Amino acid sequence: LNRAPQGDFMRPSMRTRTRSNSKTNGVGVQVEDTRICVVMVGLPARGKSLIAQKVVRYLAWLSITAKCFNVGSYRRTNTPNPSASFFDVSNKEGERLRMAAAEAAVNDMCKWFRSPNNLIAILDATNSTKARRRWIKDRCDAEGIETLFVESKCDDEELIMSNIKEVKTTSPDYVGQDPEVAAQDFRERIRMYERVYETLDEDEADMTYCKIINVGSQVIINRIQDYLQSRVVYYLMNLHIKPRSIWISRHGESNYNLSGQIGGDADLSSRGQLYAKALPDLVSKSAGDRNLTVWTSTLKRTGQTARYLPYEKLSWKALDELDSGVCDGLTYAEIEKQYPQDFRARDEDKYNYRYLGGESYRDVVIRLEPIIMELERSENILIVTHQAVLRCIYAYFMGSDQERSPWMEVPLHCLIRLTPRAYGTQEERMFADVPAVSTWREKGSKAVHADTPTASAKASPMIKPQSKGEAIA
Ligand code: F6P
Repeated sequence: LNRAPQGDFMRPSMRTRTRSNSKTNGVGVQVEDTRICVVMVGLPARGKSLIAQKVVRYLAWLSITAKCFNVGSYRRTNTPNPSASFFDVSNKEGERLRMAAAEAAVNDMCKWFRSPNNLIAILDATNSTKARRRWIKDRCDAEGIETLFVESKCDDEELIMSNIKEVKTTSPDYVGQDPEVAAQDFRERIRMYERVYETLDEDEADMTYCKIINVGSQVIINRIQDYLQSRVVYYLMNLHIKPRSIWISRHGESNYNLSGQIGGDADLSSRGQLYAKALPDLVSKSAGDRNLTVWTSTLKRTGQTARYLPYEKLSWKALDELDSGVCDGLTYAEIEKQYPQDFRARDEDKYNYRYLGGESYRDVVIRLEPIIMELERSENILIVTHQAVLRCIYAYFMGSDQERSPWMEVPLHCLIRLTPRAYGTQEERMFADVPAVSTWREKGSKAVHADTPTASAKASPMIKPQSKGEAIA
């Protein structure tokens, strides 16, 4: 019953295949043998590392193996805490060490590309001169690797300031330093780069590039060649890198949650209704006076949960719970009894297992892609959705792996705030003081319907920074 998963992210390119090799992305779909080096370009504090991290997480979420090579991390092995003068072009030793770091990163990247599943690398550095970019292109051409240059060009003072603030407090270059002294030095470093910085222009018309000006207010694209490149560019065009948060919550406890049944379209239980009443307060404690937009699924329990929120609401079919097919309306114990093989198969590979007549987690990720695009374009969104869908959205922001994300515990009556940062996504969980059953089932067990912790029982809010990202170059 557990049929082969059918990811559809990597359909063959429409253009004529120029190379004889083809391969699959691990889910049985034939893909063109394309390897792309995405080369970040731009002055410091232009959000390059945030963009690089987001692209890697997005691709990994779509089962496309990608890796970020951060030249700053290589440079730190020879010069851990440089002052601004290190980046002065007249500093010959500084120049030599920086070039050595770039070479080490590019060498490692080329080695990494020799493994057949590795498709997209991000070279995260300023790559601010035409000479440096030409050197990277020549190196990649020699290895048969395509290059896609992505420039973040920005003169929006507010954004630059917020990036400087982020860097001075979180960059490994300034560990243990007084934040004001660090900010001063970082500004000086930017000035060093400004002296030599050359934006992508017609001299580089032979190159494939995407130039993002002022966080997407203008995007210039040049010579995009194939499906994977256009996929990355489409994502970049939707991305904004302004500081923001996303709020997500499951619906309140439903009558099906009480009886341990999965799926369905049940109403909220009386405790679920209490959560709906408590939610506006919980949200405003976290979001202040921001004017949010609430996205719900088309199922009754999410609409009922959002009922008292004083914001505009939109319902999306794509946010409906994972379709459990023939198992819809059963309890886990009933599924184990009626479909024992399936019950075991799902535990074996929960991400890929597809319910008979229903969906897998992989299927849910596919249908959530437009939601992710829209989320990236928007600000101030609160999503009220379901356990499996929430796990998939969470996995996108936190970079959680496919093996673990379907087993993640997401309690009912808990509001999660996610804040993407250059070095990973920050998470905060706030519990309403309304008890609810736990619908979480551990691998190899039947669900134990214990009550979830409430605000009074559990410390709230809980803030934990997740998924350490790479550092700024
Ligand atoms: O039990 C609540 C629920 O939302 C079900 O409707 C759904 O089938 C299930 O959670 C998804 O969680 P899991 O993938 O762990 O079974």
